[in-house]
Amino acid sequence: METGEASGECGYCDLSGNALEPEASVIVVFGATGDLARRKIFPALYHLALEGILPPESRIIGFARRELGQDEFVAGLAESCARFSRSKSLDEAVWSGLARRLSYVRGSFDDAAAYRELASRLAEPGLPANALFYLATAPEDFAVIARMLAAAGLGSSDQAPGFRRLVVEKPFGSDRASARSLNAALQECFAERDIFRIDHYLGKETVQNLLYFRFANSIFEPLWNRNHVASVELDVLETEGIGTRGGYYDKAGAARDMLQNHLVQLLCLVAMEPPASLDPESVRGEKVKVLQSIRDYSSGELLARSVRGQYSGYSLEERVAPLSRTETFAALRLEVDNWRWSGVPFRLRTGKALDRQVSEIRVRFKRPPATLFAGYCGDSLSPNSLTIRIQPDEGLWLGFNVKEPGAARVVSKELRFSYRGPNDAYFPEAYERLLADAMAGDSTLFIRADEAEEAWRIVDALEAAWAGAGPPILYQAGTPGPGACEHSASARGAC
Ligand code: BG6
Repeated sequence: METGEASGECGYCDLSGNALEPEASVIVVFGATGDLARRKIFPALYHLALEGILPPESRIIGFARRELGQDEFVAGLAESCARFSRSKSLDEAVWSGLARRLSYVRGSFDDAAAYRELASRLAEPGLPANALFYLATAPEDFAVIARMLAAAGLGSSDQAPGFRRLVVEKPFGSDRASARSLNAALQECFAERDIFRIDHYLGKETVQNLLYFRFANSIFEPLWNRNHVASVELDVLETEGIGTRGGYYDKAGAARDMLQNHLVQLLCLVAMEPPASLDPESVRGEKVKVLQSIRDYSSGELLARSVRGQYSGYSLEERVAPLSRTETFAALRLEVDNWRWSGVPFRLRTGKALDRQVSEIRVRFKRPPATLFAGYCGDSLSPNSLTIRIQPDEGLWLGFNVKEPGAARVVSKELRFSYRGPNDAYFPEAYERLLADAMAGDSTLFIRADEAEEAWRIVDALEAAWAGAGPPILYQAGTPGPGACEHSASARGAC
């Protein structure tokens, strides 16, 4: 570990000496012509090449059902990378270097001959011995692909000359039972240490910062508990509707699509105890303990603690059932019943077609004792708050009260830190970090098997409660969502 002065008075401590480095690998992208691959994975690989993070000996093989020649495959990716990469353009030299390392295997996901072809490509002389299999496919294909890989001799093996890792996208199951059987199916073919379950929120810089912010400072942690925190709000709000994803979304809904993974992960990072070390198992172990501290609520309790909404016009979307009861908005109030947090509400909220596009966490602190200013002002004295903005306008702001000059008045002000400044050139996309970590074998930012199952325990109970209740509350698209969940904290009783 290095310490030093970056510039002026800003001290820094470089942890990169302790980090694992990405190893040269053959990255096989299943579902290589699909949306996720084109929008996220290939642009992320391009940026890793641009930043010099992708080891130059690495190769990339696209695997998909579509009939495509090599040139057509590469030309399609050039277009996707130019369009969807964060730089919105291609550096010719970097792209042509990457293009030479790209190839394509055509096959359906259960076609043994295609896997034999893949195995022989991987065995070509001069290629890295390490293989990273990235499943950017529909979830129903995950177990099939893992089995076919193992049958072709490409599963985890201590005899293999390099690593064999499997990266799986969300959704990881649709409930606890299916997540459990998917875990079992994958673990038959790949060792748990070689399975990397993605929650792309964990790759976001501002989400990674939660661990740094909490445990690299000493001034917040003493307040980070039930004695000082009144409530924690976790929001992932979106203005877009479901677009063309009706086929998937109508079966999932907001709780399975967002709450089970992204929101629960944010909650874990806010609520967890300091891990014994920064190694993956210490960090993930602490997150699992948070989930285990959320008790089983009865259906009645869950209905009182939750709000389920659907935007007007949702049932007219493509591939959505006309009488669909699927929620596009979900809010849930949970408590983490441990010594640190007992009695503090954590309010999780997510929705589509809302009036705001924002992901943020707000920690609201308790008001001062009701003497002096709090005695005079009562509810009009704003409590201190800390807002952690995940996106957009990534940053942190601390709300506090000061005297207004020239008046006997208390006013609320904010100290702001913004992550985006004119000199902050490198702000990687979540997928860049996650791909690099998977190549390095660092699973800290990936979901462990037990973590996925525990998160489903919470969402399964919620789904069961909702199944026995009425339809979701309709809300107008472009509004804050169902009335009970408006943005003001006081109006958020239920959620
Ligand atoms: C995905 C969900 O996991 O996350 C989408 O399936 C959602 O429904 C998306 O829109 C949000 O991600 P981000 O990074 O745009 O906040």
